[in-house]
Amino acid sequence: MSTTAYSQAVATIGFASSLKTLTKSAKTLMVVAPAARFGKRGLPPLLGKKNDELLLELASEVKPGDLGASATTLTGREPRTLAVGVLPDSLSRYNSPSRAECVRRVVAPIARGKGKLAILLVLDDPEHLLPQAIAIARCFPQFSAKSQPSEARRVQILAIDAEGQPIKPPARSAATLAAVRDSAELVDMPPSQLDPDALAARARALLDPLDVEIEEIIGDALLGKGLGGIHGVGRCALAPPRLLVARYRPARPSGRHIALVGKGVCYDTGGLHIKPRGGMEGMKADMGGAAAVLGAFRILVAAGCTHELSLVLCIAENAIGPNAYKPDDILTLHSGKTVEINNTDAEGRLLLGDGVSWAARVLEADMVLDAATLTGAQLVATGLLHAAIFSNDEQLEQQLVAAGKRSGDLVHPLPFAPELYRAEFSSVVADMCNSVHNRNNAQSSCAAQFIYNHLEGTSVKWAHVDLAGPSFPKDRATGFGVALLAQLVLDLEGGGER
Ligand code: BES
Ligand code: ZN
Ligand code: MN
Repeated sequence: MSTTAYSQAVATIGFASSLKTLTKSAKTLMVVAPAARFGKRGLPPLLGKKNDELLLELASEVKPGDLGASATTLTGREPRTLAVGVLPDSLSRYNSPSRAECVRRVVAPIARGKGKLAILLVLDDPEHLLPQAIAIARCFPQFSAKSQPSEARRVQILAIDAEGQPIKPPARSAATLAAVRDSAELVDMPPSQLDPDALAARARALLDPLDVEIEEIIGDALLGKGLGGIHGVGRCALAPPRLLVARYRPARPSGRHIALVGKGVCYDTGGLHIKPRGGMEGMKADMGGAAAVLGAFRILVAAGCTHELSLVLCIAENAIGPNAYKPDDILTLHSGKTVEINNTDAEGRLLLGDGVSWAARVLEADMVLDAATLTGAQLVATGLLHAAIFSNDEQLEQQLVAAGKRSGDLVHPLPFAPELYRAEFSSVVADMCNSVHNRNNAQSSCAAQFIYNHLEGTSVKWAHVDLAGPSFPKDRATGFGVALLAQLVLDLEGGGER
């Protein structure tokens, strides 16, 4: 593995406690608020008469449109640059009321630049603070391999209510921003820097400050534990496949045990069914699910979650070589079910089939949540901003949708109906194939159903998040799923305020 040390210029992001500390030595100040707030008497006195007038004047020229808009002006005094981020006043019911995605879009244009950046969020609900802060964090990615890094920026955020009173960020805010950024950094890392060994090492390092037990099953040892899916997919890569399990036991347990399972494919070439030209680029992001559950787990453990939690990272590289798993191979997964390989590019479900079975049968979790960049069809079905979710439990599905709106990591349910899709996987010689016979029949739902096959006979509540699009929508990772899953688990214990 390459050990090139790139000079990093990582922005620091923190919260100010008052307007005074926010504006102190700020080179740029941006005020972000819904359009209506920039109207007459919509804003409380903020920056003194002159700057307040300038703000309203600037905002009067900005039309928020569907997704928000921004404008900047030079002031000739401190802060040198004044900016407004104007958010739309109304949204559809499928959006997050926090307007997190709009905040990301209005902040992005001023993210590059020098000196301290102060961002003042005018909120109509204190709940919007954290999702908006995450949106800001997404404008300052940690990963860079540029040999000439730009200046590391200091970013400070303050949220106020309509009266101008500061709103205190929830206790988990700093840990959440760090976890989202760290997870995005992992997803941005190229396969030359992040192979299965390196991903596991990074995960262990990020978990090190926490009081958790870590166990790993590596390479051929996977076969001895019945984990034939993870082994099959990863066995030909230079770095061996592995299952990394971290366990957290709360001091005062709620009695519930939730497992977070992630697809950690460091690179997906497609295997012997190799991806076509143009289809492989971006597949460094195929560990976005593992990064998401790792981040959520860190937040929850640091917040002193009352549920027992297990983290299960299914780590492999889907490579090619003489020892690669082949079409026609038959693998036995941890569930005991046999799988005839008819597409080596449908590898994620083989990893997750093993991972969820391990969580339910060995770790004895009663709820299993998995996250994965599982299907290209997810992008067609729910797009770049909503992940697709699938669950065997209606209430859990609704709770996930609610957690999506609260966290800003949006999700939308797709059909989960095993009996309708099972025939897609029929195999003459094994219990099932790993890929569908008809690609035009609810591919994302079918992939989810394959995972669920390996939970048959258990009574776990299960939900699957296919975040192929939202995790890596274009050329930068988002850390999607970290805040979503942390929010869901906190909501499940009624502690969403932390
Ligand atoms: N990692 C891909 C899914 C993916 C595609 C993620 C595009 C992000 C962007 C996954 O392993 C895969 O290759 N899925 C195939 C499944 C097919 C072979 C049944 C797909 O979606 O085409
Ligand atoms: Zn994949
Ligand atoms: Mn694949």
